[in-house]
Amino acid sequence: MPTTIDVFAKAREFERLELLTSARELDLLPYFRVLEGPTLPVVEMEGKRRIMLGSNNYLGLTGDERVKQGALDALQRYGTGLTGSRFLNGTTDLHVELESELADWFGTESALVFTTGHQANLGALGTILGPGDTVIADSGDHASILDGCVLSRAKLRAFRHNRIDRLERALERAQGDGGGILVVVDGVFSMEGDVAPLEEIVDLCRRFGARLMVDEAHGLGVLGARGAGACELLGVEDRVDLRMATFSKSLASCGGVIAGPADVLEFLRFQSRPFMFTASGVPAAVGAALAAVRICRSDEGRELFARVLANARYLHAGLSALGFRVVEQTRLADGTEVVTPVVPVVVGDDWHAGLLWKALYDAGVFVNTALHPAVPPGHALLRTSVMATHDIGTLDRALEVFGEVKRVFEAKHGSLTSGP
Ligand SMILES: Cc1ncc(COP(=O)(O)O)c(C=O)c1O
Repeated sequence: MPTTIDVFAKAREFERLELLTSARELDLLPYFRVLEGPTLPVVEMEGKRRIMLGSNNYLGLTGDERVKQGALDALQRYGTGLTGSRFLNGTTDLHVELESELADWFGTESALVFTTGHQANLGALGTILGPGDTVIADSGDHASILDGCVLSRAKLRAFRHNRIDRLERALERAQGDGGGILVVVDGVFSMEGDVAPLEEIVDLCRRFGARLMVDEAHGLGVLGARGAGACELLGVEDRVDLRMATFSKSLASCGGVIAGPADVLEFLRFQSRPFMFTASGVPAAVGAALAAVRICRSDEGRELFARVLANARYLHAGLSALGFRVVEQTRLADGTEVVTPVVPVVVGDDWHAGLLWKALYDAGVFVNTALHPAVPPGHALLRTSVMATHDIGTLDRALEVFGEVKRVFEAKHGSLTSGP
């Protein structure tokens, strides 16, 4: 008997279909908006110049002549693509140099470059962990971490975002699971821009004999004196077992990396399916990332890290002064505030977030909208982020637009500051 179940039925009935269709009809959909030029502080988008507060180009290096030259040189030397995997026929000396410089930057024995950051998480977690192991992840971790955990078929124990007491309980319970234990957290969380309490996390991992992996996607090229990320800033580099990062944020390119002990990286080199069975990143992406790493590691790096964080502070203060509910910056146990380039505004309701997004867009400011499942239900955010290359005039103009949009919105829909 042939089955009567059509696997395409999901596509026609999925729960968000109605919402997406209505949003598209009202032109409120914040996704797939078309860029007509490079991602710079001000972009050309759908026929209009708009201030870009919705990128991960934290250092503004996508437009840097040296980074573009790095891409061009690689393109000229190796052509448009490598048409094979790193493993079989897609490794160039640029990959090898990049791995060596990244390992040096992180201060680890070794590093392995993947085609994307998503694949790096999949490739590390899906290979190091197996069905008998336990992986403990923060509920705010990036989707690629969750995907890696699922791929591994290890027992997944999630703990409530940044709640150390919950992590401790998960570690206690995991003792009875019978396998190895890996804790995996974002150093800087992608939507809210807050920082993991890594000092407490490393202590707990030690106490319970667990390994720790930190995703530095939003910390690399931003935090710490060397720009090596949240682990450097919080002084725990020597107690973190594996670090992951992507080239698609501060490094202005595309690709991913896992850094850690040489034997573990060697294991991944020969066992990790998301590394071995996919095409190598295009030469231009590797050349650009290498040039960006060199800028970050030069004296100029420090200036760029300081500038992006000063811009984040400025935007945070400006939005707060306008009466927006801006997510508080992380405060460490000793009272120090940790600023990151992500400055999210809490809206709460999905439709309100869509309406505000559109009003900002029409007035010439592009931001990101984070709706469930990227954030908990009822916790919609307008996620803004800055670049080191935004000037104060541009940020002031964006703030003016935010102020005007808020005034008009509140006249119709009520106060944005009341809410859960
Ligand atoms: C925290 C985090 N990890 C991993 C990734 C995946 O990186 P990539 O964009 O290189 O696939 C991202 C990017 O969205 C991220 O924000």
